[in-house]
Amino acid sequence: MSKYYNIDDLRLLAKKRVPRAVFDYADGAAEDESTKENNGNAFKKWKFIPDVLIDVSEVETQTKVLGTEMPYPFALGPTAISYLFHHSGEPAVARAASKKNFPSTLSSIASTNIEDYAKSSNGSVWFQMYVWKNREISYDFIKRCKESNYKAIMLTVDVPVGGKRERDLRSGMTVPPKLTIASIIDAAFHPSWWWNFIFGPKIGFANVKERFTGKKQKLNNIMTYMNQQFDPSVTWDEAKEIANMWGGPFAIKGLMTPEDAEKAIEIGASAIVISNHGGRQLDSAAAPIDVLPEIAKQVNGRAEILIDGGIRRGSDIVKAVALGADACLIGRPWVYGLAAKGEKGVETVIDVLASEVKRTLQLLGCKSIKDVKRRHVRLNKSFIENSD
Ligand SMILES: Cc1cc2nc3c(=O)[nH]c(=O)nc-3n(C[C@H](O)[C@H](O)[C@H](O)COP(=O)(O)O)c2cc1C
Repeated sequence: MSKYYNIDDLRLLAKKRVPRAVFDYADGAAEDESTKENNGNAFKKWKFIPDVLIDVSEVETQTKVLGTEMPYPFALGPTAISYLFHHSGEPAVARAASKKNFPSTLSSIASTNIEDYAKSSNGSVWFQMYVWKNREISYDFIKRCKESNYKAIMLTVDVPVGGKRERDLRSGMTVPPKLTIASIIDAAFHPSWWWNFIFGPKIGFANVKERFTGKKQKLNNIMTYMNQQFDPSVTWDEAKEIANMWGGPFAIKGLMTPEDAEKAIEIGASAIVISNHGGRQLDSAAAPIDVLPEIAKQVNGRAEILIDGGIRRGSDIVKAVALGADACLIGRPWVYGLAAKGEKGVETVIDVLASEVKRTLQLLGCKSIKDVKRRHVRLNKSFIENSD
């Protein structure tokens, strides 16, 4: 049995394994990081109300979202440049997820390209899309995803501009990381990471490299890259065109209101992802779990609902389901696993969360994930009283 009992155990190991600037790029968030902190705390306000004396010797946990079967109601969400965290990069993530029959999502700004990621997976893969000012790059993604049999596309809409991530500004973090006096000193503490960085695969934005207006990619701070490349003028009309171009299961990722959920349904999205980008964009944003009930009420079964941000326990996933989500995405947890122990670390993250979901269902008196209802969770009254 693994000695990593929870996600935080892997986070702590990740912190030891990679250079500080790399860890901070994953662990950090925008400005005061209050959105990120609140994402996690918000789950703790919801308390379970269990049923008893129900035969829970067998429990059904599987579900289906975005046309994809999955053994538990969670999938690996998109995060950028996995080669930063471990020399096995995105292919290891695709292998780990598919070995356990979980879908995983490749980011537009991954360090492995669409084609290679699909080849590394033995299961279902999804693609996360940003809209570049140079539309050829983005629209070409759709064609490439079709050719490589991706099951779904999710369009991320909460990055009109890059969030102000102060840990990255302080560390001077670039992609690929540059060698400075500080990084040379750091090498003494993380020799194997630096060895793999220098002699392993070159790290860059693999999906756009060869299409990058003919110029060689420069060392870039991620925020600068987003601000230079992504188009802040994209609207619902274009989201609709993108959904139509794709024609398959399609999600809008990064919405937070019932009104925007309604618009997503109008443009033909089959799913929404309630998300504040793990607190990396708008600081002081509400927590996804707190806006989930009102959005679920509005959606009323007309689209699938996914949610991410702050999920660190299987019980968080069960709470999200009780409040109306069909499934969850996890972000940092699998990045910590990757940084800590490569492919095995991602597998451990999946195993830890899956076993926690199952145990929570049993302790809640639910024979199936479908039996989890709104009445199984209650907002802690003392929190509401204290928050006035
Ligand atoms: C290192 C890192 C990189 C990310 N890159 C992307 C990305 O390229 N595209 C995207 O839509 N979301 C990206 N996200 C946001 C995640 O998909 C997800 O919304 C967020 O991590 C969920 O919060 P959690 O980390 O608390 O689980 C990134 C998150 C992290 C931590």
